[in-house]
Amino acid sequence: MIPKTIIEPFRIHSVEPLRMTTEAERRAALEAAGHNLFALRSQDVLIDLLTDSGTGAMSSEQWAGIQRGDEAYAGSPSWFRFEAAVQRLFPMPHVIPTHQGRAAEKILMAAVGGPGKVVPNNTHFDTTRANVEATGAEAIDFVIPEGLDPALEHPFKGNMDLERLEAFLRERADDVPLVFVTITNNSGGGQPVSLENLRGVRAICDRYGKPLFLDACRFAENAWFVREREPGQQDRDVADIVRDFAALADGMTMSAKKDGLANIGGWLALRDDALAATCRNLLILTEGFPTYGGLAGRDLEAIAQGLEEVVHHDYLRYRIRSTGYLGDGLTRAGIPIVRPVGGHAVYLDARALLPHVPPLEYPGQALAAALYVAGGIRSCEIGTVMFGRRPDGSERPAALDLVRLAIPRRTYTQSHVDYVVEICAEVAARASELRGYRIVDEPPALRHFTARFEPLPA
Ligand code: F0G
Repeated sequence: MIPKTIIEPFRIHSVEPLRMTTEAERRAALEAAGHNLFALRSQDVLIDLLTDSGTGAMSSEQWAGIQRGDEAYAGSPSWFRFEAAVQRLFPMPHVIPTHQGRAAEKILMAAVGGPGKVVPNNTHFDTTRANVEATGAEAIDFVIPEGLDPALEHPFKGNMDLERLEAFLRERADDVPLVFVTITNNSGGGQPVSLENLRGVRAICDRYGKPLFLDACRFAENAWFVREREPGQQDRDVADIVRDFAALADGMTMSAKKDGLANIGGWLALRDDALAATCRNLLILTEGFPTYGGLAGRDLEAIAQGLEEVVHHDYLRYRIRSTGYLGDGLTRAGIPIVRPVGGHAVYLDARALLPHVPPLEYPGQALAAALYVAGGIRSCEIGTVMFGRRPDGSERPAALDLVRLAIPRRTYTQSHVDYVVEICAEVAARASELRGYRIVDEPPALRHFTARFEPLPA
């Protein structure tokens, strides 16, 4: 008999206390933070679903690796363990360690971007977009139309729209330095990309002589979805599916804070020798020597071990099911969410839940603030606050106004999730009373991190 209950495939070995707060305390904390959840002190947060990035629990073997870390400036055994662990899954000749994903993006874009260039992606994550735009290049998203319809069921809503990509390359191929595919598609709801779709992107890239890069932050979760949903993949080892993705790509950027199961780290990996040489020179300028990048030897060890663990089927089955469990609870409570539930997060459809708050009054921000006040839950607006400001300073509604409940890996238990569902249901029941916000202060780029808000009058 195969039990129906999918359990956490670990037991808890060290615990961190949570600090309970009152609603009045949370109101005051939010006010002091300029109504921006990024500006809260994390001790004022009860369940922190701001991000799944670098917030997970490490295993006992990873902590053992931290002890083993060798801090030699050059050629440390920790580096060779890291490089081998990366290349076991992504057999690319050049692995360039960075302190996190965006550092890899910055180096790559500094090497290939620039004014007049355009980078297509299924959907750029905000730092990826910002790093493209910071060079004067343009970032353009070609996710399939199904990926923009939050309620629509589709197994691979992260897929690239192959027709639009090809039509674009037909016109602008000379301006495109490379094509990116984000697995899973974070900004589009944590939705996976199929192997078949990536093969299609590869074929188009070949026709136009363009390199294909993966933004691979959540590669293992993506591969698990492929195993569960893509015809013919059901009996395969996830590590083999990951290697199939890698085989189709010329390079990758990676944040080890996600599927590296580590608290910090990242890398850039690629096949092209000349581009790798340029990138290594940039690495030395900003991150460090090529055998440690922006990382300590102990971090390299934690990532190497994390890459071992992240492709275990028991882990991925639990991981994807625990995210689905939150989605099921919210759906039972009648709360509109992006369907199907993604790998690392559940996305509340704030525009659907708060139809009385127009996009330029930031319904996602309003919902995220209310969840914090009601239950100390910290979530993240992924909508018009994050994506609405154009490089010229003007504003437009983002494609979607979502609130992301991101699940840190191996960190919260089922009762924590039940609590989150209860708070969300309570807020949803009085959604019509929630008011929009206006921005009173914002930086020119990545404004969601530091903007200050003011609630609009009733
Ligand atoms: N690409 C994707 C798809 C991401 O989700 C992230 C980070 C990055 C790149 C950048 O990596 O943070 O290591 O520099 N996403 C985090 C999040 C921050 O909350 O979704 P980083």
